[in-house]
Amino acid sequence: MESKLPDVGTTIFTVMSGLANECGAINLSQGFPDFDPPSELLDRVQHYLRSGHNQYPPMMGVPSLREAIAGKVEEIYGCRVDAETEVTVTSGATEALFCAIAATVRSGDEVIVFDPAYDSYEPAITLQGGITRHLPLRSEDYLPDWQMVEEAISANTRAIVVNTPHNPTGTAWPEADLERLQSLVLEHGLYLVADEVYEHILFDGRRHESACRYPDLFSRSFVVSSLGKTYHCTGWKIGYCVAPAELSQEFRRVHQYVTFTSHTPTQLGLADFMASHPEHHLELGSFYQRKRDLFIELLEESRFSMVPSAGTYFQLLDYSAITDEADTSLARRWTREVGVASIPLSVFYELGRQQPVLRFCFAKDDATLRRAAEVLCQL
Ligand SMILES: Cc1ncc(COP(=O)(O)O)c(C=O)c1O
Repeated sequence: MESKLPDVGTTIFTVMSGLANECGAINLSQGFPDFDPPSELLDRVQHYLRSGHNQYPPMMGVPSLREAIAGKVEEIYGCRVDAETEVTVTSGATEALFCAIAATVRSGDEVIVFDPAYDSYEPAITLQGGITRHLPLRSEDYLPDWQMVEEAISANTRAIVVNTPHNPTGTAWPEADLERLQSLVLEHGLYLVADEVYEHILFDGRRHESACRYPDLFSRSFVVSSLGKTYHCTGWKIGYCVAPAELSQEFRRVHQYVTFTSHTPTQLGLADFMASHPEHHLELGSFYQRKRDLFIELLEESRFSMVPSAGTYFQLLDYSAITDEADTSLARRWTREVGVASIPLSVFYELGRQQPVLRFCFAKDDATLRRAAEVLCQL
């Protein structure tokens, strides 16, 4: 059969996690915590599992969860959205990104994606017959070169995908970049797919610049987040998309034939937990900042160099003082021989641009981070 996605193989995250398991290595590759969600959240989900909430929920998500999401979006970003028509619960952010792209992109449309980029955007664009225009973020700060963006926009440009805080680099866009983005989106009539799955994980007093904060930008945006990232339950695959009613309507037309809806007890449990623990997402930044600081402090004596992450639960480490081996082979070799798994940065670039940099996930127990750092300091 002729493949519709001939360039797609098994994702590097699956490959590296598999290798880590096989070798018994400490897995700092794939982005998930090695600790459990809050026990009260587990209790709430179990309660719904055991009390007859095991059939299809509404297509757009259970009302209590949509209301909790709408409340949070208004409280944090000052953006009032209607839970009935503008919030859709999805099976992870991955599904929301897919539906937003499928609802927007037509055959022959171009979509701007910044490299290094999360790997799910391009296949979704390709499946719609769209063309991905990869633009590199500036190498010095991993922020966009707006001159380059302006030059790349053509009559065929339909949408732009933005991810802040950013996986894999750990940068967070400042206000000035959102303002530039807003003016380009409005000037050229583009749509924005805003991947904000790390919206609550920012450090050193930074504020998350959500597209929801900018009313004109929001009018053309699909804002995507992941409750898996926020509540330490990535395996539950619950995410959402917030978009103005007209865009949400198109989004739901796709969503109802992709998954239709998502697991009922987890939605109900998350809704209860969000209502009773509003502090959880507010404290998530400091929770992960402690882990970032610990990881960096433990690596002080190592030969790695780094710029501390501004957000997310990833830290890039530059290994140029240790070896000039290519990042893809080094990540594999260190998993096998040293026992710590990471992700090579080059895989997030269209053409695999080489840089002596690996991505490490610090969403791990302190003991795991200590064990990993001990090994890394010996390199
Ligand atoms: C930038 C980014 N977007 C989307 C996702 C997918 O989120 P989910 O697990 O909720 O589908 C991830 C997960 O790692 C991510 O890092």
